[in-house]
Amino acid sequence: MLIITASPRKNSNSSAAALYAAGFSGIKYETIDINRLKMRPCAACVKCPPDNGCIYDDDASRLIKKISLEKIFIAASPVYFTGVPAPFKAFIDRNQTVWCSGRKPKKKKKGIIILTQGHTKLKYFRGAESEIRSFFAVNNIRTAAVVKLTSMDVPGAALKNSAALRRLEKAALLLREK
Ligand SMILES: Cc1cc2nc3c(=O)[nH]c(=O)nc-3n(C[C@H](O)[C@H](O)[C@H](O)COP(=O)(O)O)c2cc1C
Repeated sequence: MLIITASPRKNSNSSAAALYAAGFSGIKYETIDINRLKMRPCAACVKCPPDNGCIYDDDASRLIKKISLEKIFIAASPVYFTGVPAPFKAFIDRNQTVWCSGRKPKKKKKGIIILTQGHTKLKYFRGAESEIRSFFAVNNIRTAAVVKLTSMDVPGAALKNSAALRRLEKAALLLREK
């Protein structure tokens, strides 16, 4: 399983929630922190079709390749101004090369999305959810569950919230299903 985290915070709630869900699932995992990638944003050069190539060869290219070989995913992100943080969005945009290739991987893939935000209103999740769903869809990853955790400004809040943990456990079990 591949876990993609997007928070720059040390005691990130979204990352902690992802690791909790992964631990509960019992599935072996690797974690990639989007903030550590050395990558360029998509140049919209329109040179990617039809061979799935990209004018850049960097960490984003390597992660896109890794995603093509994986089957199970957790994408965890905080909500920033109703979307995902800029580095994550920059990586999602680089998936334009996957979109342009038009090739769908044969492997059955699935993933869960974990989002945290400070606000209590669910409507602020919409942008980030739609961005990650679209990133999953282009990589042929079925979204098995979306766990949205509110009031998550204080580091450590996710793991202290028993209702949140139960929701993460429920989503984690979906990753185990055949
Ligand atoms: C730049 C920035 C923008 C944010 N924008 C929003 C927002 O639009 N809505 C919201 O509810 N919380 C917003 N927040 C709060 C974070 O989403 C919240 O603290 C989140 O739980 C942090 O997750 P993390 O602990 O994984 O970093 C923002 C925080 C930052 C730093």
